[in-house]
Amino acid sequence: MMDWTDRHCRYFMRLLSPSVRLYTEMVTAAAIHHGDADSLLRFDSAEHPVGVQLGGSDPQLMADAARVAADKGYDEININVGCPSDRVQSGRFGACLMAQPEVVADCFRAMQDVCEVPVTVKTRIGIDDSDSDEFLMRFVDTLANAGCRHFVVHARIAILEGLSPKENRTVPPLDYQRVYSLKRAWPELRIEINGGITTDEAVEDALAHVDGAMIGRQAYHDPWFLAVLEERFLSGRAAPDRVAIVEAMLPYVREQLAAGERLNRITRHMLGLFAGQPGARAWRRHLSERAHRPDAVPDLLLEAVDAMRVAA
Ligand SMILES: Cc1cc2nc3c(=O)[nH]c(=O)nc-3n(C[C@H](O)[C@H](O)[C@H](O)COP(=O)(O)O)c2cc1C
Repeated sequence: MMDWTDRHCRYFMRLLSPSVRLYTEMVTAAAIHHGDADSLLRFDSAEHPVGVQLGGSDPQLMADAARVAADKGYDEININVGCPSDRVQSGRFGACLMAQPEVVADCFRAMQDVCEVPVTVKTRIGIDDSDSDEFLMRFVDTLANAGCRHFVVHARIAILEGLSPKENRTVPPLDYQRVYSLKRAWPELRIEINGGITTDEAVEDALAHVDGAMIGRQAYHDPWFLAVLEERFLSGRAAPDRVAIVEAMLPYVREQLAAGERLNRITRHMLGLFAGQPGARAWRRHLSERAHRPDAVPDLLLEAVDAMRVAA
């Protein structure tokens, strides 16, 4: 999730769930081509299994970016066909590409040709007035004919003009049935559903119809949700306790700070760890008020645990 997640966030989330598949925020193929690919694509080996999400519509640029990402060891390359922002549309990629499935299929072929790991697509159920089963089926049909076997579908349309990206994640209504119909029409494809899933019961409901569920905001705001999902749907590993997760982060935090990273760049992802628990506010406040200071040290995390216990 752009502006929210990064490699530190994924390292932390991996401690909560050893099996869940993690994804990077969208990285544009152009940025990889023109910019510092090493820093844009950097990740820790602990993050596996991890997919990188690429944005773009030029098959050659997308293939080059996919090759670089695959060489770095990503387990999956995902194409963004869901982002509605103006910035993205002017570059002609993201959700607006739903109207040009051939362009996405050309990118897919060029990318899959140059890497062994699966190339997958994240899309919406429609855009603007193109809000029908037929439109979504035509999109998926074109990609499936190109060889794509794995789709993640955000179960709401994107409105390309007049709504902000944030509104585009809340205003268009969710329509899970359309994603379920897609799976019924294409039982051989891996179809995962995304959008508005906030409980393990909702995951269970979705898994009765499709092959997987992608969780965005809930996992960020309440990362413990991932530990719950691990136990219930993945390895069955019983969730460790939250303080053990803090302690398990410490060696990583020390290593990152020694390499010049600022503490709050890591702890900002951990603010929700105790969401709903007694003392959670004290935990958040202790970190928010202190972790940005230049002299902040890793043990601030343990202090924040103490502050939480006192407040609880
Ligand atoms: C801050 C933010 C940034 C996002 N960035 C991306 C992105 O880079 N790529 C993407 O495919 N979706 C992105 N999304 C959308 C989410 O992946 C997801 O599709 C959407 O939030 C609906 O799922 P949820 O209800 O589980 O959050 C972003 C969402 C948020 C809140």
